[in-house]
Amino acid sequence: MLKKMFFSPFGETRTPYSVVRIMIVIVVISYLLKHCKKEKRPWWKNSIVYQIYPRSFHDTNGDGTGDLKGITAKADYLYDLGVKTLWISPFFTSPMADSGYDISNFVDVDPIFGSLADLDELLKTMHSKDIKVVLDFVPNHSSDEHEWFQRSLRREEPFADYYVWADPKGFSDSGNPIPPNNWLSKFRGSAWEWREERGQFYYHQYHRKQPDLNYRNLRLQEEIKNVLKFWMDRGADGFRVDALKHLFEVEDLSLDEPVNEEAGVEDNLQYNYLKHPFTMNQPETFEVVRDWRKMMNTYSDKWFTLCRDLTPPLAPWARLLIVQVYNKDIQDVVKYYGSDTDPLADFPFNFRIIKKLHNRSDVTGTRLMKIIDEWFDNLPEGKWPNWVLGSHDHSRVASRLGADLVDALNMLTLLLPGTPVTYFGEEIGMQDTEISWEDTKDPQGRNFGPDHYRKHSRDPCRTPMQWDATANAGFSKGPSTWLPVNDNYKTLNVKAQSEARESHLKVYKTLARLRQESSFAKGKLAFPVVTDEVLAFIRYLEDEPTYLVVLNLSENDVVVDLHQHTNLELPPDASVITRSVSDKSEENSPGPKVSLSALMLVKGEGLVLQLTFAKEIE
Ligand code: NOJ
Repeated sequence: MLKKMFFSPFGETRTPYSVVRIMIVIVVISYLLKHCKKEKRPWWKNSIVYQIYPRSFHDTNGDGTGDLKGITAKADYLYDLGVKTLWISPFFTSPMADSGYDISNFVDVDPIFGSLADLDELLKTMHSKDIKVVLDFVPNHSSDEHEWFQRSLRREEPFADYYVWADPKGFSDSGNPIPPNNWLSKFRGSAWEWREERGQFYYHQYHRKQPDLNYRNLRLQEEIKNVLKFWMDRGADGFRVDALKHLFEVEDLSLDEPVNEEAGVEDNLQYNYLKHPFTMNQPETFEVVRDWRKMMNTYSDKWFTLCRDLTPPLAPWARLLIVQVYNKDIQDVVKYYGSDTDPLADFPFNFRIIKKLHNRSDVTGTRLMKIIDEWFDNLPEGKWPNWVLGSHDHSRVASRLGADLVDALNMLTLLLPGTPVTYFGEEIGMQDTEISWEDTKDPQGRNFGPDHYRKHSRDPCRTPMQWDATANAGFSKGPSTWLPVNDNYKTLNVKAQSEARESHLKVYKTLARLRQESSFAKGKLAFPVVTDEVLAFIRYLEDEPTYLVVLNLSENDVVVDLHQHTNLELPPDASVITRSVSDKSEENSPGPKVSLSALMLVKGEGLVLQLTFAKEIE
C-alpha cells in the first residue's frame, strides 16, 4: 500500500526509505541555509588572535623545547583566557637555522614538535572548544635542506628554476665570483650565496640557509598552493603569511638598490643601509595573493559546498588569511586588503603601534590617537581593522613600552573595534629576558657578533612561557630549556596571577569577555578626551550598555575631569568594571561609582567604566 503512494518521475516505485533520505537532505540543507543567513560577520572579527611560539609554550617530553602536545595540554587555559583563534608559529620540519622559519618539508611536523597525529589531536581538541587554529605559512623561502633546493642545485627538472639563481657579475682579481648586484640580506651581509656545484649565486632575503623561492616559475606556484590545500584538508582554519612583500624581486637582477641616505646607517652590510625598491612589494605579489584568496574561498569541506557558495566569507568554515607586511607608507600596507570586488587578505597586520612607539616616553595619548586615526582613515571600504602589540620579532610590551602600561594597552587593543593580536605571555605581562652571547640562538643577533648582538637578537622575547613557580617555570620538566627562563618567573607566572585578587591575567580575561558584548563587538566609537596624558574612548550601541575606557599614558598620576574636556554629555559618575593592577586605591576598585569630574588614575593606568548614558551635545 505504502509503495503505491510514492512514485518517482523515472517510473520506478519509491520506497518510504528513500523518502526519509530526501527529507533528511531537505532538513540538512535548510539548516545550512538558516545557519549561513544567521551569521552576520566572519568568525575572526569577534576573535582575539593569540600567537603561540611553539618552541616556548609548553614542553611535554622534557627535551626543553615546547611541542604540539604541550599546546593541546593547555587547551583549557586558552579557552578560559577567551582567545578564540590561535596562530601557531612554524612547527614544520626544519633544521632550525631561523627557529623554524627555514622549512625543509612544508607538509610535515618537525620531530621536536611531535607528529602529524599530534597536530590532528590539537585541531580536534581546539575545535571541540570552538577555538580556530591558524597556521604560519612561509612562502618566500625554504630551507637549503629542502629536497627542492637540493635538486635545484643539481639543475634537476622541474626544480632547476624553483629558486632565484643568477650568474656572477664577474670575478675578482683573486678569481672569486662577484654577486650579480648589491642586494643585502635582512640578517646582514650580501643576499647572494655562491654555490660551486651550480656555478651560480642564489638569492636569500633572510639567512643564507633560507633560499628564496622563485615565483616566476608557475609550477612552483602550484606546489605552494598544494601546501595550503594540504593543511586546510587537515583542518587548518587559515594562515598567517610570512614576509609576503618579498615574494618577488625585479626580473633584471643586474639592478643595484640605492643607498638610503636618510637612514644614516654607516655599516654597509646592514639591511637598512639600502632602500629596497627592487626586492619588495613587486606588483606580481598581488596576483599570487589573489590566487590564494580565490582558492581559499572556494575550498571547503565538501558537505558545506552549497552554503559556502552563498556566503563564502561569512560561513563558520571560511578560512582566514592574514599577511605580514611591514611598510613605512601605510598605503603600501593597506593595499593588501584588496577591495570588496577584489578581495586579497582579510587583513595585513597593523604594526603601527610597534613601529611608531619605541619606548616609554614615546607613548602619549596624542600619538596613539594619530596611529588609530591613520589606520581608520586608510582602511578600504568595508574592511576590518586589527591591532598588533607584540610578536616573536619584537621586544615584549612591558620591556619596550613600560610594565606600567601592560593593562592599559591591552584595554586599548582589545576594546577598540577590530581584531587584536596578542603574543603569548603578554596576558601576564612577561618581560624580555637577558640572554648571554653563548646562549644566543637567533641568527639575526648572531650575525652582529658578541658586541652588538643585543640590539638585534630576538631571543629575549622568545623565552619560555611562565606557567608557575616550579623549576623551569612549569614550562618543562627537563634539565634545561632551549632558551633560559626569565629569572622573574617565581613571581610573574600564570598560577600566581590566577590566584591573585587582581592581576594582568584577570584584567585580560575580563577584557576578552567584554569584547564579546554587543557594545564592543558592534558598537560605535567616540574619543571624548585626547591629550598627551590621557586617551579616553567610548563604545556605545542603542539599547546596550555604554562603556568608557580612560587611559593615563603619562608617567605621573593624574586627576581627569571628563566633563570639562568632552564634547559629549556624560553622567556625573560611572561604575568601574576593571582597572590596571597598579591601582590599589579603594575608590577605583571594581564595582563602586567614581566621579567623572575627578577621576584619579595612577601612572600608566587604564580604567574601564560603565556609564548610564553618553549623548552628543547638541
Ligand atoms: C618574518 C618572521 O616573522 C621572522 O621571524 C623570520 O625570521 C623571517 N620572516 C624569515 O622567515
